Amino acid sequence: MTMFLLRRTIRTGVWTNHFRQFSTSQTHLSERKGLVLGVFENKVGEEGSLQLTEAAAGFDQSLSGKLSELLNISGPALKKGKSRIFYGIHKDFPCLAVVGLGKKNAGVCGMENWDTTKESIRQAVSVGCRVLQDLQVNHVEVDACGDAQSAAEGAILGLFQYDQLKSKKKTKVTTQLYGSTDLVSWEKGVTYAEGQNLARLLMEAPANHITPTTFANTIEERLAAFSEQVTINKRSQAWIEDQQMGAFLSVTKGSDEPPVFLEIHYKGSPDGMQAPLLLVGKGITFDSGGISLKPSPSMDAMRADMGGAATVCSSIVTAAALKLPINIIGLAPLCENMPSGKATKPGDVVKARNGKTIQVDNTDAEGRLILADALCYGHTFNPRAIVNVATLTGAIDVALGSAAAAVFTNSDWLWEQLHKASVVTGDRVWRMPLFKHYTSQVTDCQLADLNNIGKYSRSGGACTAAAFLREFVTAPHWAHLDIAGVMSNKDEIPYLRKGMSGRPTRTLVEFASGLAHSD
Ligand code: BES
Ligand code: ZN
Ligand code: ZN
Repeated sequence: MTMFLLRRTIRTGVWTNHFRQFSTSQTHLSERKGLVLGVFENKVGEEGSLQLTEAAAGFDQSLSGKLSELLNISGPALKKGKSRIFYGIHKDFPCLAVVGLGKKNAGVCGMENWDTTKESIRQAVSVGCRVLQDLQVNHVEVDACGDAQSAAEGAILGLFQYDQLKSKKKTKVTTQLYGSTDLVSWEKGVTYAEGQNLARLLMEAPANHITPTTFANTIEERLAAFSEQVTINKRSQAWIEDQQMGAFLSVTKGSDEPPVFLEIHYKGSPDGMQAPLLLVGKGITFDSGGISLKPSPSMDAMRADMGGAATVCSSIVTAAALKLPINIIGLAPLCENMPSGKATKPGDVVKARNGKTIQVDNTDAEGRLILADALCYGHTFNPRAIVNVATLTGAIDVALGSAAAAVFTNSDWLWEQLHKASVVTGDRVWRMPLFKHYTSQVTDCQLADLNNIGKYSRSGGACTAAAFLREFVTAPHWAHLDIAGVMSNKDEIPYLRKGMSGRPTRTLVEFASGLAHSD
């Protein structure tokens, strides 16, 4: 059939068209170059409505002012995050996207808890790169816009699309810094963004592709290049049983997919003996709810219930790529939460690694169970700080939405470190309470030491979950990040396309970098 059609095509003379098409796409592959340049909004009273960045001004000069002339006649002043495209004005760049950066030197905004300048650059550059991608431009040069790291993040995050499983894919775009010598910052931004994109890839991929085993293998592959600093252990069910992780085992029981307890050691500190930073991530590769089955609508989103593990592991891959001088241990209990004849039933009592007994009244509150055992095990490394990350509760989405990841912590110092990092990355955090008020709601239990749901089940759900985890922590510097609200993006974060967000990978990396470079 194919042969017949092909011959017919040739005979009817469409071949020439075919050939033309082929040669056009060849041109695409080698020559579709584009450029993204930024412009600031001028303040009222300042001369002109726009102010070119350094790179844009240089470009404009090389064309004897043609760019400013075109910008002035092509419409109203470019607003923040908007773009305008010019074709054929420069021989090297058939397509030029000029993007609005908003006000110059906006800086850190105390109300928004982020650096507005950096956020605007990420947003504008992502818009510029994306419009060029839609025009099938396959190589984009990017204006640093005064902050090459943020520009790189905007470009690499903005261009990411999980289309591996589609026949029709977006144009693959390579990126390069334009008109600046600050390659170090550019490369750093690329590495930060690629880290987040790795987490997005793991989270977005369907649960029949990313199982505990394939998750662990993917991370192992990504760490292979750093084998001198990194050791990785993929612990099997037998090891988990040996460790007496009864809470973790109670979750994996209903599934036919074998669990993995992933353990990563990154040794970047010149002082080999330095106490490690411990990162622990919830790794439920699919959360059906178990016997307390979730409703069908949106259940597919539960393929991303390993977002904690994805962001933690991706941030370690990034730390290794950046050669951060710090020791980090990453732990990811990975399994599915499924209903079956073997599954844990509401009311069952299980025993965690530290001997505490837990009544599992709701099998859908499984994240805290697997984290309980991972936290107990994590203490054996005497870490300087423990940060666990988990898509733990729907309640945190109700409370904060996708604006910020919630931080529950027993340490003001750790809160400050996390908050400081998030202001830089724009991937924000917000502090929540760890009152005893909530503890009493999980310790008041009919059959066991703890109940896995709060006694007033719906009220303060994110806080009772945090209080539950606290029962497995003795370390003085511990933080629990509930990332369920920031798990996915519709259009709230303009430089991330719709899909799983990979948040807060960059904040974790920036936080680790802050620790690495302090003391
Ligand atoms: N994985 C979910 C939480 C979640 C909800 C993540 C929405 C991302 C988006 C978690 O395991 C869960 O189901 N939690 C329950 C706890 C409840 C049974 C106490 C919840 O939030 O409803
Ligand atoms: Zn659940
Ligand atoms: Zn879950």
